Amino acid sequence: MSSSYQPIGVFDSGYGGLTIFRELISELPEYDFIYLGDNARNPYGTRSFEVVYEYTLQAVVHLFESGCELVVLACNTASAKALRTIQQQYLPLHHPDKRVLGVIRPSVEMIPFLTRTGHVGILGTNGTVLSGSYPMEIAKLTAQNPIVVSQQACPLWVPIVENNQIDSPGTAFFVEENLRNLFQTDAEIDTVILGCTHYPLLERIIRRFLPEGVTLVNQGPIVANKLRDYLNRHPEMEQRCSKGGSRVYRTTESPANFDSLANIFLDAPVKSQQVRLG
Ligand code: DGL
Repeated sequence: MSSSYQPIGVFDSGYGGLTIFRELISELPEYDFIYLGDNARNPYGTRSFEVVYEYTLQAVVHLFESGCELVVLACNTASAKALRTIQQQYLPLHHPDKRVLGVIRPSVEMIPFLTRTGHVGILGTNGTVLSGSYPMEIAKLTAQNPIVVSQQACPLWVPIVENNQIDSPGTAFFVEENLRNLFQTDAEIDTVILGCTHYPLLERIIRRFLPEGVTLVNQGPIVANKLRDYLNRHPEMEQRCSKGGSRVYRTTESPANFDSLANIFLDAPVKSQQVRLG
């Protein structure tokens, strides 16, 4: 690739970020993109702050070294546990002109437009829920009209998707149980955010157990829309993202496994390369 190759980097702990990636390439087809999945060290949802930060930073450095000027952390856990430190401490010192964006802020920005009761539910990994990132971001953005936020960790949903068990009977059991817990905490919730990359793949089953009239928020289209908006507002960055329409897939695990599972997420053939991080 030529030196003008400056793709938009998209990082996730594994496959899940492909639910965001597919919306990004559909909204912004003209740009070059690299997707990097840290499948060898997935899941991140159960790991400590220090470890998620270290792994995420290694991925960001890899993408910068591959030519990216702009990286999207398409992983809620990485956005919750690593993004702020990367933005506030790492970038100013090492790459003041490069940018790393996450998925939590764009999703939170939609909440005031969606909720009528002012009661919102967040579904996420243990890591995302325990980080308190969603309630914190929501509180910052809605200080004038505070929103009541309830969170529910759904630790089994990622393994269900990763193991291709979406249609097995056990899946409905766990989905129903987690949603029951969420609505027992607050029956006035009218908006539920799928705060984990894998959850859109369970959307059909989630909708079966969702009380009538509740809005389910899928992050992919929102993040894609907000990235388009970001590039419009930042022409200096937009001009540094190359527009060859290419897609490159990298994984830290076996490319054969990545390629076959990526199909579930993308509905299109994928040919990935293996890389080492750190
Ligand atoms: N990508 C992660 C997220 O969105 C889910 C998978 C994991 O735990 O690594 O939170």
